[in-house]
Amino acid sequence: MSKWKLVAVACLMAILCGCVMRMQQTMSQDEENLIVVGFSQVGAESEWRVTNTESIKSALSEENGYVLIFEDARQEQENQIRAIRSFIQQDVDYIVFSPKVETGWKTVLQEAKDAGIPVIMIDRDVEEESRKLLTAYIGSDFYKEGKKAVVWLEDFLEKQGRTEEPLRIVHIQGTIGSSAQIGRTRAMEEAVARHPNWELVAQECGDFTRAKTYEVMSGILEKTKDIDVVYCENDGEALGAIDAMEEAGLKCDPEDGVIVISFDATRLALQYCLEGKIALNVECNPLQGPYVDEVIKRLERGETIEREIYVEETQFDYLTITQEMIDSRKY
Ligand code: AHR
Repeated sequence: MSKWKLVAVACLMAILCGCVMRMQQTMSQDEENLIVVGFSQVGAESEWRVTNTESIKSALSEENGYVLIFEDARQEQENQIRAIRSFIQQDVDYIVFSPKVETGWKTVLQEAKDAGIPVIMIDRDVEEESRKLLTAYIGSDFYKEGKKAVVWLEDFLEKQGRTEEPLRIVHIQGTIGSSAQIGRTRAMEEAVARHPNWELVAQECGDFTRAKTYEVMSGILEKTKDIDVVYCENDGEALGAIDAMEEAGLKCDPEDGVIVISFDATRLALQYCLEGKIALNVECNPLQGPYVDEVIKRLERGETIEREIYVEETQFDYLTITQEMIDSRKY
């Protein structure tokens, strides 16, 4: 090889090396710029929960500037506490979590605060003293959801001229101690206390699942079939209760059978609403990922944030729902 060819090859090699080094530098800079978030989810007990997980995962994606460490607690609070501690050890930039129940978080949240890691809680609430340790809360007002259901029922009975008749109610509760259960239960119990002719003939836990509610409802139906209303604290429970009632020969029909009330407004349950099997479905909005992304991005820019954000929610009843409404929904 001539002297000039050798010089040319050497130059080319130098340029290539420079490019590779620059690429490596940019890649590691990009990686360093990613925001690391640890997310502890309650589990996968319902359609709602699965949608909520997907919403967080797609909002906190790598393309959107994040590294997401996801932990499914499989319905155990201990697993959530362990996950939060491991996020603290890994020194993540933010912790996001959806608490299974309202109590028992103070110590671990204090540990996160002491480590200087902001905690954003989603979906369910915690008791007051733990709330103070959070950077932000994004979720639902479950008591308000329950009140919407009760007000609808009161109006419906009035229109039917049934306000004075005895009303026998089966109440299927969600995971006991979760704020979704506490708020929705409180609204129904207050309504029962207000109406002397309303009676809770059964109040049992369906754990927010179709399978458990089918079992529980089948047991209730062995004792009585004299039921006017079944108030279920989520869609999975409503579907399980309807399965059991139809098997036992009961008709789920607000005008000529049992009035079924549900929460969440997921697609399948809304289809049941269109058929009239579910009379009312109060929405609980699981699409909380974009709200979390917005809060984190604002904090990153040093902007002030709202400490409590309640997601937008509506309601659907069998009288006004249409197929177009269901088709246009995201979940
Ligand atoms: O906390 C939200 C509730 O939890 C939803 O209503 C229910 O479906 C879920 O499992």
